[in-house]
Amino acid sequence: MALNGHVLRVAAVGDVHCSKSSQGTLQPLFARAAERADVLVLCGDLTDYGLADEARVLARELSGIKMPVLGVLGNHDFESGHAEEVCAILGEAGVRVLDGDGVEIQGVGFAGVKGFAGGFGSRALQSWGEPVLKSFVREAVEEALKLEAALARLRTAQRVAVLHYSPIRATVENEPDEIMPFLGSSRLEEPINRYGAALVVHGHAHHGAPEGRTSTGVPVFNVALPVLKALFADQPPFRVFEIPVDAGPPITSPPSGPAPTSIATRAVEAAAP
Ligand SMILES: [Fe+2]
Ligand SMILES: [Fe+2]
Repeated sequence: MALNGHVLRVAAVGDVHCSKSSQGTLQPLFARAAERADVLVLCGDLTDYGLADEARVLARELSGIKMPVLGVLGNHDFESGHAEEVCAILGEAGVRVLDGDGVEIQGVGFAGVKGFAGGFGSRALQSWGEPVLKSFVREAVEEALKLEAALARLRTAQRVAVLHYSPIRATVENEPDEIMPFLGSSRLEEPINRYGAALVVHGHAHHGAPEGRTSTGVPVFNVALPVLKALFADQPPFRVFEIPVDAGPPITSPPSGPAPTSIATRAVEAAAP
């Protein structure tokens, strides 16, 4: 890994949904990312059912990759109740799994959290009524607070927010209206606007839109693997961002197409993104 001039090249992809049969299928993607970037960011749904065996397959797929790898878990990584073991296996393989904490890599700070659902804007779910509904909202609030704490602790001029769920509606557009509130939460947007970020990357919305901005203009990218496959059918499905280490606006590019200009799943896995 090396800085390319004064920029850090960040490759990002979400929703690789590694399964027990994924052996040999993800390594080429990661190898291409390593050729084009200095850091690899995985935006949740690292595994398909959150199984230890799936995490071991993913660890093997990543084993030859000579670059820092960080990421967050997604909802699929919780499905079997073994999220801690999944984290431990990936951690042993050198993957830094963020959960309300941050890491600095070559002058750029990364703050990561899974996030949660609840919807967007004035129609977002509110904490009112039944206890179970209040618990649902509390989960989103707590994830937003964790993101806020992670961003606040970073001392770098440039920060990247890494999420699974979307903080804005724009990058989940194109998804069915019925599932829109389950794809993200505006509560995640508040700390991003407050602390600022060079960019936000997330996944989860397999049929969402690739780009949007927060209400203060922070660029947000949906890097869910199915979105990138659909958008850039003839290129490996990851996206590269060049982040000036000292300051300045970030620059972005298609997955592995032309050199980046500079920033500054199985389809909706049947039922649940
Ligand atoms: Fe997901
Ligand atoms: Fe997913």
